[in-house]
Amino acid sequence: MSDRYAVFGNPIAHSKSPAIHAAFAAQTRQSLHYDAILAPLDGFARAVADFVAAGGRGANVTVPFKEEAHRLATRLTPRAVRAGAVNTLSFDPEGIAGDNTDGAGLVRDIGDNLGFPLAGRRVLLLGAGGAARGAIGPLLDTGVAHLTIANRSAPRAHDLARLFAPHGDVEGCGLGEIAGRFDLLINATSASLAGEAIALPRGSYAPGALAYDMMYGARETPFLAAARQAGATRVADGLGMLVEQAAEAFLLWRGIRPQTASVLADLRARLAAP
Ligand code: ATR
Repeated sequence: MSDRYAVFGNPIAHSKSPAIHAAFAAQTRQSLHYDAILAPLDGFARAVADFVAAGGRGANVTVPFKEEAHRLATRLTPRAVRAGAVNTLSFDPEGIAGDNTDGAGLVRDIGDNLGFPLAGRRVLLLGAGGAARGAIGPLLDTGVAHLTIANRSAPRAHDLARLFAPHGDVEGCGLGEIAGRFDLLINATSASLAGEAIALPRGSYAPGALAYDMMYGARETPFLAAARQAGATRVADGLGMLVEQAAEAFLLWRGIRPQTASVLADLRARLAAP
């Protein structure tokens, strides 16, 4: 019998994780089975326990269970502690290991896939929820020159900036207080889900700037469309981050890092198809 993995979320029907992991498994000749499991909003822990009892080896966790997965894990990697959320679980006789590969996936997509070196860059991160928090540690680790966290509710941005101050040059502010020019502007808010763009001050984009939206879809997100209009030199959505966080989880579980380029290209083609 092949090893079992799954992604837990609610909703989960449109998850691309099963297709991504099936592609990784085929490419690396690993025998595994990966499902999408809809957990009830009040039944995540039970759903995970059932999966473990049925022989599950590991799981990915998506919205809205990443904080609960953090609490459920019996041990955490340092990056999961910093993120305050877990997107990857591994089950073994000692218990449940929790990790977070989202930030690593973001950094790999930007640095490697997009060829945009992060060291020395001035970075604006929009949002202060779980998605933003997971990105901060890995971004600071790359040696960015400065990180501004801007959020609709400013106190949440201030709190995150304080939390990460020991790890780098980071400040928090409200969306209306954004000042300066940035080389990299990352949207980690859920505004794109609501079809809303975030209006940035004129001149926020330094020459050569990259605008990155963690969201993705068949059409360009409102944030990226606005960024292109406002002078961003390059724009990218979060499909690459999705594939890279999956590759990082696969590496953790199987000890082998899959190639991501062809998997990302296939997903992109399917997303664009009517
Ligand atoms: P996630 O775990 O996906 O980050 P979350 O914790 O609910 O989800 O956080 C959503 C983020 O998107 C928050 O930073 C939120 O701002 P507030 O903290 O002020 O609520 C931000 N957000 C959501 N809709 C937004 C909008 N229309 N404009 C600007 N920011 C928005």
